[in-house]
Amino acid sequence: YQNEIYFNGLFGRLPDLPMDFAELARRAEAALPPSVWSYVAGGAGNERTQEANVAAFDGWGLVPRMLVGATQRDLGVELFGRRLPTPLFLAPVGVIGICAQDGHGDLATARAAARTGVPMVASTLTVDPMEEVAKESGGTPGFFQLYTPTDRELAASLVQRAEAAGYAGIVVTLDTWVTGWRPRDLATGNFPQLRGHCLANYFSDPVFRSRLAKTPEEDPAGAVLTWTQLFGNPLAWNDLEWLRSLTRLPLILKGICHPEDARRAKDAGVDGLYCSNHGGRQANGGLPALDCLPGVVEAADGLPVLFDSGVRSGADVVKALALGATAVGIGRPYAYGLALGGTDGIVHVLRTLLAEADLIMAVDGYPTLADLRRDGALRRV
Ligand code: FNR
Repeated sequence: YQNEIYFNGLFGRLPDLPMDFAELARRAEAALPPSVWSYVAGGAGNERTQEANVAAFDGWGLVPRMLVGATQRDLGVELFGRRLPTPLFLAPVGVIGICAQDGHGDLATARAAARTGVPMVASTLTVDPMEEVAKESGGTPGFFQLYTPTDRELAASLVQRAEAAGYAGIVVTLDTWVTGWRPRDLATGNFPQLRGHCLANYFSDPVFRSRLAKTPEEDPAGAVLTWTQLFGNPLAWNDLEWLRSLTRLPLILKGICHPEDARRAKDAGVDGLYCSNHGGRQANGGLPALDCLPGVVEAADGLPVLFDSGVRSGADVVKALALGATAVGIGRPYAYGLALGGTDGIVHVLRTLLAEADLIMAVDGYPTLADLRRDGALRRV
């Protein structure tokens, strides 16, 4: 990708979208309506945790090795028995539809997954039902992210639909059974506006529909009200057995930051952990997710650990991998790419991250992820 850009540059052809995250964010802010921008870009409280997520990457530095001849790099990873061509994935971004010009941001994201081989974690909260999102991902099976409703039959229905639709795993988000304190959303009164754009998985669900007096088509407001009453099950450890019983797909717990939680989850028989603080959107005052990663990886003791929160560059991707992440996710960066360029915009963001990550591995003399995880590749600054 870098060669392509330099080559085009020789002929005066400049890329459509910026390479730099800060510039991408500035352009997205200018392109999106203010309420959409504040929903996507905002975080909890005064956003210190969100900022700390990003700043934490400056606390670690790679030490280069010379004379390695890292002419061929392999950034592919093995995840739940599948070979992924890259270590990246697209984190679940609910209501992402509103970032796309045609309102169908989930389908645009799925198309980017199909084109790049980078799997998408499809949120529960989508504009289009999960079956249609899965179809658009083509040969790149995604994961389904579950916000577990309090209605167990409805939860089972969502999981079984995901299995039938060909998703490769279920990501259960634990940190959002209640929405965080988000001043930007509160100030713009975003919630009523967003709800109408993200309930396709519920409105199309036979169990959900059976709970309504009138269909969502006849009485959308009534259906939304029922949804608010069902959303958000504060799961407890003894619910894991039930969750496990719902599916044979790999079960991954999102929001694990404490090593003791990682150990308990492993003992409970989950297939993967996902270290994340929701991009700083849920609780302010938290440790940066990156600083929690080594403890979770150690406690996971060989279980795959997905990671997100604060990744803004290829260097960040390499650092998270060096700290033991099996795969690295992005949220806001691809939402901004989507806002600016649809599927092409997301592909641009992914290629930019990968090209930089790959070049760092080349220049720093780390041809494989195993080399990268060797003692001394990464040090505290
Ligand atoms: C999210 N995130 C999220 N997570 C989840 O499990 N389900 C969801 O529906 C959403 N929705 C959502 C909306 C928006 C607008 C954002 C920005 C994020 C959290 C997401 O999966 C991920 O953890 C963070 O976005 C990662 O942090 P960065 O990359 O945005 O810093």
